[in-house]
Amino acid sequence: MTSYNITMLPGDGIGPEIMAQVRRVMAWVEGAHGVSFKITDGLIGGCAYEADGVPLSDTTLATAKASDAILMGAVGGPQWDGKVDYAKRPEAGLLRLRKDLDLFANLRPAMCFDALADASSLKRDLVAGLDILFVRELAGGVYFGEPRGIEDLPGGGRVGINTQRYTDAEIIRIAHVAFDMARKRGGRVHSAEKANVMEAGVLWREEVTKLHAAEYTDVKLEHILADNCAMQLVKAPKQFDVILTDNLFGDILSDAAAMLTGSLGMLPSASLGSGGPGLYEPVHGSAPDIAGQNLANPIAAILSFAMALRYSLDMGVAADAVEAAVDKTLASGARTGDIWTEGTIRVGTDGMGDAVLKALNN
Ligand code: IPM
Ligand code: MG
Repeated sequence: MTSYNITMLPGDGIGPEIMAQVRRVMAWVEGAHGVSFKITDGLIGGCAYEADGVPLSDTTLATAKASDAILMGAVGGPQWDGKVDYAKRPEAGLLRLRKDLDLFANLRPAMCFDALADASSLKRDLVAGLDILFVRELAGGVYFGEPRGIEDLPGGGRVGINTQRYTDAEIIRIAHVAFDMARKRGGRVHSAEKANVMEAGVLWREEVTKLHAAEYTDVKLEHILADNCAMQLVKAPKQFDVILTDNLFGDILSDAAAMLTGSLGMLPSASLGSGGPGLYEPVHGSAPDIAGQNLANPIAAILSFAMALRYSLDMGVAADAVEAAVDKTLASGARTGDIWTEGTIRVGTDGMGDAVLKALNN
């Protein structure tokens, strides 16, 4: 029997409750697809800080690196906001994981399930059938650029500094991912930057254009300014197929797009490097306001596991089964609070897990 080593990092807030539902789906895949998952649990974020004094310990990092896939819940919470050393804040654990494993390609599909088209803040006809793939650069840009910091100014006052920095090689490797993905989908890439304001954006545009001309003329490429992209996302989101963008713009634009699909609680993500394990996490955060109350939507985490099956474990058939079960679950009317609308059935986190398991078993 094939056995996979999975590092499970539930994290903070709603992380542990949604990952508990993922474990149930994993057990189903073991039974139905004849594989075994050897799960090693680890701490990340605020809970790791409490236990180890750092948001990601060297031991956990080493375990994660040696596994076949890493499943993460969420990090952060008000008890740590502004209260711990900035370098040890919960988010720093996640950023360390991304950087250390060189997970440069963040895939964030924003799909609108038909059953949820009415839960969107936009009109149904604008979002029904929506299927966008964000390809966000994840290991560079202003998130990691040097110099950075807060410094005192000689004449009094202070300055906060961050640096947007991209090498041609970093741009080219993420652009490859976007073009390759587009070939398997709608064949179109919008590359979003701010070439009108930033040199890093000018280089981005030049390198994407060059790579396109050299290797991907079968894909349709359009350049779009990131602010216009934000506007177009809420105006006519279905014009997009693949959106290629940097770390910061990708963070912002993918949250906006997520909301179009009905709820942030629905969207999975995969972060891939060049070899080594991928990291799979929901796009949403730790939602401390609803943590521990059996209210959180586990679907983004479950769909992230489906992405792990597809991209790290070469189990596309099982991934299809999990995605189909989510579709079925939504069609059955089961809804956590974030996607509930009049006439649907309100369930808790574990109730949603029950519904997905039922759909998998049918
Ligand atoms: C995301 C999150 C993270 C980010 C935070 C938690 C560091 O917002 O994955 O989108 O900014 O990348
Ligand atoms: Mg974000």
